[in-house]
Amino acid sequence: MKKICFVLLVGLIFFSVLSFSEGTVKIGVALPMTGGIASFGQMVYQGIEIANQMFPTVLGMKVELILADNRSDKTEAANVVSRLINLNGVVGILGEVASSNTLAGGAVAEKAGIPLLSPASTNPLVTQGKKFVSRVCFIDPFQGHVAAIFALNNLKAKTAAVFTDVAQDYSVGLSNFFVKDFTAGGGTVYKEYYQSGDQDFSAQLTDALSHNPDVIYISGYYPEIALMAKQARQLGYTGPFLAGDGAEAPELIKIGGSAVNGLYYTSHFNADHPATKMGQEFVAKYEALYHTSPSALAALGFDTYLVMLNAIERAGSTDPAKINAAIRSTKNFEGATGYITIGDDGNAVKSAVINEVVNSQFTYVTTINP
Ligand code: PHE
Repeated sequence: MKKICFVLLVGLIFFSVLSFSEGTVKIGVALPMTGGIASFGQMVYQGIEIANQMFPTVLGMKVELILADNRSDKTEAANVVSRLINLNGVVGILGEVASSNTLAGGAVAEKAGIPLLSPASTNPLVTQGKKFVSRVCFIDPFQGHVAAIFALNNLKAKTAAVFTDVAQDYSVGLSNFFVKDFTAGGGTVYKEYYQSGDQDFSAQLTDALSHNPDVIYISGYYPEIALMAKQARQLGYTGPFLAGDGAEAPELIKIGGSAVNGLYYTSHFNADHPATKMGQEFVAKYEALYHTSPSALAALGFDTYLVMLNAIERAGSTDPAKINAAIRSTKNFEGATGYITIGDDGNAVKSAVINEVVNSQFTYVTTINP
C-alpha cells in the first residue's frame, strides 16, 4: 500500500511538472547586457519586462522569458541565439540591438527557422534575404534621409563632417545614406573614420574642423559620440552635432556632460510625445517603476514583446513557422512607439522623432513621417 502511494505521488509530481512546462511558452531574449553597449540591452530588457508584467500569458499559457547576454560581442551574438534555440527550445527570440550583432544572430535563427524580432536594428541588411528575421523599427535609408533633410532645412547646414564607426554595419550604412541625401540636397561632406572602443579622436577632429563644418554628423553609438563631442568642444567647436538612434543612452550625458548640449539625433520615440495610447500607458508604468522617463529602446523592447505575443495569438499556435508568418502579417498594431505594420520583407514603416539634448535632457524637437 505504502509503495503504491509512493508511486502515485511520484507520478503525480512528475505529471504536474510535465504539464507545467507544457503550459509555458518560451521566448528567448538576446541582448547586450554587459560590455561596450550594455546600456542598450538593459533599456530594451526594462521594456520587455514591463510588457511581460502587463501581459504574462498567451494562448492560456504562461510566457517564460529566457535572457541571454551577448556581451556586446558579434561572435557571442551568434552563440546566444544558437543556445536559446538548441538548449532552451525557445519558439521565438526578441533581439538583438546593434545591427552587426543582429546580422550574426539572425543568420543562426534563419537556419533554424525560429523567428527573431529585433527592437532596434536599423541596417537594411539585417532582414534582407531572410524569412525569419523581422523588426519593429524603421530602417536606415529613412533615418539617414530624415537627418539629411533636417541638417539642410532646419540647421541650414551646407557643409557636414561625417564620422563613421567602421567596426559597425549600422554606422557604415547610416553614414552612406546621410551623405547620399545631404549631397543630393546640395551639401558638401568631409568624411572621417574611427572604430568602436577608440578614445582619442583629436586627429580626425582637427582635420574635420579645419574645413569649418556647419554640423558634425556622427553615425555611431553613445560611448564614442560622448567622448568625441567632448573633444570637439575642447578644440573650440561650438556648432551642432547630429547623430542617429545610437546616440541615446543616459551615458551619453553622463560621459559627455555639457559638451553634448546641442546634439540632435533621429530616434523612434520621445516619452513626452508618445504616438499612441499604449505609449502613454507604457510611459506611466515605466515612470512609476524607475522614476525616470523611458528611452526609445525601452519602448521598442516593449513593442517587440507585444508584437511577438500578438503573433502567437493570431497564429493560435506555438509553431515557430506559424508565429513567423503572423509576425510578418502584423497590421496597424498599437505599440508604444506607434502603429506597427510589418511587411513581407520583415521591416516596419514608422515615423521618426528628432530629439535634442538641451540642458542635459533628451528633448523633443519634431516628428517626421515616412
Ligand atoms: N539602430 C541601431 C543599430 O542598428 C541600434 C539602436 C537603436 C541603438 C536605437 C540605440 C537606439 O545598430
